[in-house]
Amino acid sequence: MRAGTSDRLLSDEAALSLVTRRSDPPPRRPGGGRRAARPRPLPAGLADGDAATPMTSTAPPPPHRLAGAARSLLDPDGRATLLDRAVRSARTVRDRVAPRGAEQRLDDVTRLANLVTAEAAGVAVDLGLFDLLADGPRAADALAAATGTDPDALERLCRHLARRGFLAERPATVFALADLGQLLRRDHPSGRAVQFGASAARTRMAQALSRLDLAVRTGRPVYETVHGSSLWEQVARDPAVAEGFDAEMTAHARRLGPHLATRLDWSSATRVIDVGGGTGELLRQLLLHHDHLQGTLVELSRAAARARAHLAASEVAGRCEVVESDAFSELPAGADACVLSWILHDWDDDHAVAILERCHAALAPGGRVVVVEQPLDLAGNTDLDLRLLVYFGGRERTRHEYGVLAAEAGLRVLRWTPLTGGFAAAELVG
Ligand SMILES: C[S@@+](CC[C@H](N)C(=O)[O-])C[C@H]1O[C@@H](n2cnc3c(N)ncnc32)[C@H](O)[C@@H]1O
Repeated sequence: MRAGTSDRLLSDEAALSLVTRRSDPPPRRPGGGRRAARPRPLPAGLADGDAATPMTSTAPPPPHRLAGAARSLLDPDGRATLLDRAVRSARTVRDRVAPRGAEQRLDDVTRLANLVTAEAAGVAVDLGLFDLLADGPRAADALAAATGTDPDALERLCRHLARRGFLAERPATVFALADLGQLLRRDHPSGRAVQFGASAARTRMAQALSRLDLAVRTGRPVYETVHGSSLWEQVARDPAVAEGFDAEMTAHARRLGPHLATRLDWSSATRVIDVGGGTGELLRQLLLHHDHLQGTLVELSRAAARARAHLAASEVAGRCEVVESDAFSELPAGADACVLSWILHDWDDDHAVAILERCHAALAPGGRVVVVEQPLDLAGNTDLDLRLLVYFGGRERTRHEYGVLAAEAGLRVLRWTPLTGGFAAAELVG
């Protein structure tokens, strides 16, 4: 039987049920089983198209159409029965739509289970495909020539990306940027392309993530089990891993920095310490926005060297220093603000409290610890939460949970300020 035929039978069944009394026995096959019934005329008020909505549609029927059907069934002599029947009609139409919704959901879940789209988008980023299309649509063979790829394979890549909303194919074999592809241009201010392109850091993290099963069974991080040393050690030791990691952190800091600089009041601060400040980009943004601020960045050895180079080459070089140290050791004293951005979530509760205690001890009188995270009770990032489990044994937390950690370190939350993309900053005071 062709697919279209079974679709039609479903529609006919739906139509039939609109005129079948509740007491009617279900039609029986000669062998005893239920069968699809012959079509019967539809009641007035329910147009033929209502019962035969194309199977490609997943939208429920518009309510006004059902109301029209119900109105036409009103009858002073049998009001309850006819209304009841109208309600059943509505349910039948709804139930007829449901299998299509279920098929759609199956498609959705299948899509979630495969990695092809992420891989395809990553390859496109690495090939510079989205950048090549910035000036307008191009034919697949021209794109293949520009990227040095196989024309047939590239066309198939583009077609899949078009199916997923990164590109648009119009006319056939000519591809243009679509919304998602725009976001993955290298010059897009979000810096999101670095999350898709190949990098040694991403490869290591993906390998660790493939043992999520182990992390879930044990509740313990698996990065070291998979790779033999921690991500931080590898970022410190291996320039290739550091490069990809730094690129992501820099893109993140560029996006977040202006919000942190402008949504909080920095006027009463002079000295800012950024603990685990990564490449120094966040500190650079803060200092760029506030001429009166002096900055100290605290980082592990090689990360400190890279931050030093980054800041030395920046406009704020004269107002900042980099200290090679550890967040669990004594921190430079006298901070009006001690920034912990995307740090606490890397650690379990005990380590997070220990870091907060170090920051608390480093504060000048009236100073505050500024914690920047993505609290689970705001937008929340459950994707990252699982990554943190796998990589470090860290976790995302709610604002309340951060408050509890702060209290254990002798601090209290003064306020939370929303920043961007689900990020928020907590100001903690002693
Ligand atoms: C997720 S990154 C956040 C970077 C930066 N704060 C930002 O928001 O972009 C975490 C940083 O913590 C640093 N880090 C890890 N362990 C540390 C430690 N024990 N002491 C100081 N920094 C540490 C890493 O080198 C890394 O740069």
